[in-house]
Amino acid sequence: MRILLAGANGMLARAVRRTLSGEHTLFLTDVGEMNILNREEIKKVCDLVKPELILNCAAYTAVDKAEEDQAFARKLNAEGPSNLAHECAKRNIPLVHISTDFVFFGDGSHPMREDDPVSPKGVYAVTKREGEELIEKSGCEYLIVRTAWLYGVGGKNFPLTMLNLAKDRDLLTVVHDQVGSPTFTNDLAWALKNLIAAGARGFVHFTNDSGGGISWFDLACATIEEAQKLGLLPAGKKIEVKPVTTKEFPRPAPRPAFSVLSLEKFTRLTGLKPPDWREALIRYLKEL
Ligand SMILES: NC(=O)c1ccc[n+]([C@@H]2O[C@H](COP(=O)([O-])OP(=O)(O)OC[C@H]3O[C@@H](n4cnc5c(N)ncnc54)[C@H](OP(=O)(O)O)[C@@H]3O)[C@@H](O)[C@H]2O)c1
Repeated sequence: MRILLAGANGMLARAVRRTLSGEHTLFLTDVGEMNILNREEIKKVCDLVKPELILNCAAYTAVDKAEEDQAFARKLNAEGPSNLAHECAKRNIPLVHISTDFVFFGDGSHPMREDDPVSPKGVYAVTKREGEELIEKSGCEYLIVRTAWLYGVGGKNFPLTMLNLAKDRDLLTVVHDQVGSPTFTNDLAWALKNLIAAGARGFVHFTNDSGGGISWFDLACATIEEAQKLGLLPAGKKIEVKPVTTKEFPRPAPRPAFSVLSLEKFTRLTGLKPPDWREALIRYLKEL
């Protein structure tokens, strides 16, 4: 299939490029080649490339910075996807778009299903939800994959930050009262490949399997432990990870206390089980 990739230099897109290129013809564009805010440019690129599907990995992903950069965050997370969706509707081709667990502020009673009510808080979450709604309204065929706590080679992410901090410090403080599921970009790219092959449409959730959720504190401890085993950190160095509450570690943007995503629909559609979070983390650390 001829797939036009938007935001092709981003962290997720790097994994998508490796995973999809064997089976599909990929046309790689980032802001320099196709600015998703420019409808004319989108049309021109589509006229040239004649895509059979557009995959959007472009977004405004700086969650805290978005609080003071609301207009631009809204442009990238809502207006940009809407532009792509309208082009897809005109051409009668599907749009595959990535969204976030941040649209939920769950109460921990069950993993969030695709049809659970959303309740986004903070500029990033609200603008990502607006993007979802505009795609739904555009009339195009769409697949919106919500994911969470993304990390992978070629981008800023939590395990990498922990690893870098642990090189210089022997004490890390990490929140333990936010529960979710991490996602390795390689595994999300694999999920996208399989969802595209299955012709999936609508909303689908995908993360690594965390067996009902882990905290950032759990993820930090596992990163340090596995990095020491792999020799990425000195094995004998004592690094203490101290659990703190969200109140003790305030950030500009609100974070959900519970945003574990249900993986049932992904498995139902593809017949596949998302890889375990810890095994995925080890693969990432090895790739580093
Ligand atoms: N990171 C997470 O923890 C997380 C969690 C849940 C969901 N997600 C979602 O997953 C998706 C991928 O995230 P990611 O972390 O891979 O993102 P990323 O690394 O920030 O990549 C986004 C890419 O989009 C490009 N871009 C920015 N403005 C553009 C424009 N106007 N036109 C075209 N491209 C533009 C960026 O270029 P520049 O770098 O030059 O700006 C960058 O290459 C996003 O939809 C995000 O919301 C992420």
